[in-house]
Amino acid sequence: MGTYFTFEVLDGNVGRVTFDSPGKKVNTFGRPIVEELEQLVGELEGKKLHGLLFRSGKKDQFIAGADLNELAALSYLPKEMLGQLSGHMHSLLTRVSRLPFPTVCLIDGPSMGGGTEFALSMDYRVASSSPKTVIGLPEVKVGIIPGWGGTQRLPRVIGVHPALEMITSGEPVNAGKAVKIGLVFDAVPLDQMEAVGRSLIDYAHQTGEWKKLREKKEQPIGLTQDQAMFMFAIWQGGIFGKTKGQYPAPLAALDAVREGCNVPLEEGLKVEQAKFAEVGGTSIASSLIGVFFMNNRLQSDTGVADTSIKPRELKRVGVLGAGLMGAGIVTSSSRTGIPTVMVDVKDDFVKVGVKRAMDVVGGRIKAGKAKPEDMANMLANITTGTSHRYFSECDIVIEAIPEKEELKKDTYKQLLPLMKPDALLVSNTSTISITRLAAATDRPDRFAGLHFFNPVDRMPLVEVIRGEKTSDETVATLVAFAKKIKKTPIVCKDCPGFLVNRILLPYMNEALLLLCEGADMDKLDKASERFGMPMGPIALQDLVGIDTSLYAGSVVIEAYKDRAAIPPNILQDLVEAGRLGTKTGKGFRQYTGKKGKAEADPEFSKFLEKNRVGSRQISSEEMTDRLFLGMLVEATLILEEEIVRDPGDVDMGLIMGCGFPPFRGGILRWCDTEGAGKLVAKLEKYSSLGKRFHPSQTLKRMASSGEKFYPAPKVVV
Ligand code: NAI
Repeated sequence: MGTYFTFEVLDGNVGRVTFDSPGKKVNTFGRPIVEELEQLVGELEGKKLHGLLFRSGKKDQFIAGADLNELAALSYLPKEMLGQLSGHMHSLLTRVSRLPFPTVCLIDGPSMGGGTEFALSMDYRVASSSPKTVIGLPEVKVGIIPGWGGTQRLPRVIGVHPALEMITSGEPVNAGKAVKIGLVFDAVPLDQMEAVGRSLIDYAHQTGEWKKLREKKEQPIGLTQDQAMFMFAIWQGGIFGKTKGQYPAPLAALDAVREGCNVPLEEGLKVEQAKFAEVGGTSIASSLIGVFFMNNRLQSDTGVADTSIKPRELKRVGVLGAGLMGAGIVTSSSRTGIPTVMVDVKDDFVKVGVKRAMDVVGGRIKAGKAKPEDMANMLANITTGTSHRYFSECDIVIEAIPEKEELKKDTYKQLLPLMKPDALLVSNTSTISITRLAAATDRPDRFAGLHFFNPVDRMPLVEVIRGEKTSDETVATLVAFAKKIKKTPIVCKDCPGFLVNRILLPYMNEALLLLCEGADMDKLDKASERFGMPMGPIALQDLVGIDTSLYAGSVVIEAYKDRAAIPPNILQDLVEAGRLGTKTGKGFRQYTGKKGKAEADPEFSKFLEKNRVGSRQISSEEMTDRLFLGMLVEATLILEEEIVRDPGDVDMGLIMGCGFPPFRGGILRWCDTEGAGKLVAKLEKYSSLGKRFHPSQTLKRMASSGEKFYPAPKVVV
């Protein structure tokens, strides 16, 4: 009996291996486990068994894939080592696939990455019908490709098209779909899995099918040249359209399937090995693996250092204001089963709020992401009204009324006497100081910012903002609540712009300045898109609304006067002319044509000419430098001021809050990839433009010491 694997012989001379990593919630494949597996396979090769069953000893958990520490180290390994790692696992799993008796893998719970590749090396797979059972090869999501045979064995088991669907998307399939595509023989209740596995072994002997299957799986798939050309060209176009060439892993996986499917398995595995080594060591893989770990950290973060602090349960939620944001918050809360009260000043406004909530769920039902009963359940959880008295039983009230400090403070005064004495009060304000708002209440320790992003139903990020007096218990409670309603919270201290807007708005202001200095509007947007942003800064101005951008931008300019990029009055002029962006059909561009598509608007030139401060040709390089170097400086100042607790908070905030490209891993990881020394030298070029391009202490220190925001992991695979 080993540490991780237990071997038993059941009656009928059927062997059974149980994989159970002691003391761990999930099974993963780390180095010591692979070593023990190798030894076990050696022993099994010498045994005379009727057949072999393989299962996990953990209920609802099959194999989660690679060991996380080893995954973290992967992108730091040289190419040759990556190739060796993949080659090593290929030999081991080939030996599993050639064991001298039929083999059946019993899958209950998630089977991911290496777990799925292991299962594919066995003759048959049976899944449990539990909703927790999902089978996938998610490698491309972290910038790598399956390297233990997945790109070769999966197409040989289920066919090229469904295999490409799974491999290039990284999305898992549930047990039902796995049966449909032939990935598993059947999906049955957990307590019947073993019996089905044993019958399969008997069946394999009776028919001799297992030997024929093995032979077939070692051969080329045999697509005709035309079939192959046509199918792969379509896939390549589709992947390129989705990834814009910025994510190489899905294309590398496609190449591995393309080059490997029409040659014998052994040669196909060599193709996979080479492709795995090629993408595994890139900075993109490193960034995406980093995002995966940062996300994991946020999922388990309680929001406070003191682990003894427990969040309070918020059984009933109140939302004040049924507008754009309030209705969105009500939707998120009520959809997750929490009784939620929505209050506005007039019935008509409340009705609009309810309609907004219904539209969100209606849209999800249309898209097949929700069921009609979800709508009924959500509505059953919503109570509406126009009186603050409706909040008397709420454990928290989330205020989402217009962005006017005095209005908010006055409203708190009316509201607080009607609330439970221990209830929390939070504001969704995007610009007003939380500490100042807290001072207008009787409970500054139970007051905080809870800053959702628009549109609430699609934006995962919520900033939990601590005022000076916000208690740890309040923070922990808000973090737990945000997670409960399926958001990702990031805790930050109170400062103008909080986390995301403090970094994003200087970028927007810089774009305006560049435009007025002579930069071409389309080239400016393109420069940002080429860097990886989902849309350029000018297009973003029109989307968020020129009035909103003007207001929020001016708050940041006022607060960080010493360094802010101060654009001419172009936003004011557009607002005065009623050009508020997409919502009014005109802003920097016009949106009045078919489907509201953005088009150049000749009328805009008069606004530009009035605000011009130059007309020089500005290179794409200067545009990209100024847009993102300014962001970097501000991001490092946020760390120096300890507004957040971890570089990952900054990077994940930007990725989730403004679409910063995940393949760059966030602005700080971008700095690590480029090297602080190189970026500090670039900053010097723009130093005369103002303090916003003066390297922070952190950047200077890193440039001279070579230190990084994310040091390489110490674990060596
Ligand atoms: P909105 O104008 O769509 O909705 C505000 C709602 O509050 C209206 O329905 C109004 O009737 C209601 N209201 C006004 N006074 C009230 C009172 N005394 N009692 C109850 N209800 C009252 O505004 P929106 O966009 O939803 O913004 C709300 C808050 O969220 C603001 O603080 C804003 O800064 C913040 N925010 C807005 C974002 C956005 O993109 N719109 C993003 C993040 C935060």
